[in-house]
Amino acid sequence: MRWKTLAALAAGVMPLATMVLAAAATNKDGGDGELLRQARKWYKPLSAPPLPPANTPRGAQVRLGKMLFHDARLSRSGVISCNSCHNLANYGVDGLPTSLGHGFVPGARNSPTVFNAALHTRQFWDGRARDVEEQALGPILNPKEMAMPASDAVIERIASIPEYVALFKASFPKEKDPVTYHNIGQSIGAFERLLLTPSRFDRFLAGDGRALSVREKRGLKRFLEIGCASCHAGPAMGGMVFQKFKLPNQEGEGDLGRYDFTKDPNDKYVFKAYSLRNITRTYPYFHDGSVWDLGEAVRLMGKIQHQRDMPKPEIADVVAFLGSTTGEIPRHALELPVLPPSRANTPRPSFK
Ligand code: HEC
Ligand code: HEC
Repeated sequence: MRWKTLAALAAGVMPLATMVLAAAATNKDGGDGELLRQARKWYKPLSAPPLPPANTPRGAQVRLGKMLFHDARLSRSGVISCNSCHNLANYGVDGLPTSLGHGFVPGARNSPTVFNAALHTRQFWDGRARDVEEQALGPILNPKEMAMPASDAVIERIASIPEYVALFKASFPKEKDPVTYHNIGQSIGAFERLLLTPSRFDRFLAGDGRALSVREKRGLKRFLEIGCASCHAGPAMGGMVFQKFKLPNQEGEGDLGRYDFTKDPNDKYVFKAYSLRNITRTYPYFHDGSVWDLGEAVRLMGKIQHQRDMPKPEIADVVAFLGSTTGEIPRHALELPVLPPSRANTPRPSFK
């Protein structure tokens, strides 16, 4: 604590060497020992996972997964890829209230980011998929998203492309017939598990007090005191718990959330407490994408989850803190893969 050092100096009780050391320590953690301790109760610094060597099966899976992530031939129209709604250059989102699927028809929910999604305990706003491997197989067959008629049709397209067949063999060397729908999910998942975005907040958690500004620290302190971390917990700062959430102005019955999947009446209007990492870039907010302004999203959270009218300066501080969780997109995610060409027997796209 800086004031303690000063007080000791004024009282003349501290030998010079100790004083210098104390000052250095103060600088290092920015005088925020207590704040750091509180933050570490909830969060650990996130680090970027190492890339598996290219010549291993896992390395091949990651390469294949990235290609499939960008390949619109996984959609009926040949127009929509995973990247259409989870644009990696745009922090893994489409920036629309709800995504446009097959035939440009808007879907029911906002597209969450794929960055750090692998860290969540379950996937989707309602948690209906266990992990990113299982999740990836949903949108391809969803008539409102990529709209492929059946998994066989997906395999027919992929298996007609020899470069893909070779990559599946390299990715799953122990399997006799590795071009399967299941393995599409495994590969995309392998790629997604590398989409982590360490940020300045992680540097702070690792002990670098200078990683956050005074205002961001004030915001973090409020964020922790109010109790936001109790739901937005874990390595992705969210994605761990499900909670009731209904916007005050919501009309009609609306989206029933987790209930549609569990059929448990207690799960009506229950949604995943979302990851707050990169939140400044993943607007518009909430499962229906109804709120564009982060300050407004924070105000609503204060009101709905904490029955608290957060004063404007407090909202601004929390928003400033949340900005420090916006991380760096890993370079490998920004390099586009070259996709192999279709062959004469590759089933053609259909707009119907
Ligand atoms: C048409 C737009 C669209 C396409 C195409 C699409 N997604 Fe999504 N994705 C969404 C929406 C919307 C959700 C949320 C749906 C829900 O929760 O019900 C979602 C959810 C997810 C999630 C869950 C994230 C979380 O935080 O729970 C992951 C991971 C994901 N998609 C990856 C993919 C992959 C991989 C593909 C390609 C195979 C893909 N998506 C294709 C729109 C799309
Ligand atoms: C009781 C659990 C709970 C608490 C406490 C809580 N949240 Fe949330 N938060 C949620 C849920 C659930 C959602 C997802 C709501 C939905 O369905 O769109 C969410 C969503 C958000 C979003 C929008 C995320 C997105 O990508 O759309 C922000 C921002 C947010 N919370 C910030 C905060 C802040 C700041 C606090 C403290 C003032 C807080 N939350 C406290 C449960 C909670």
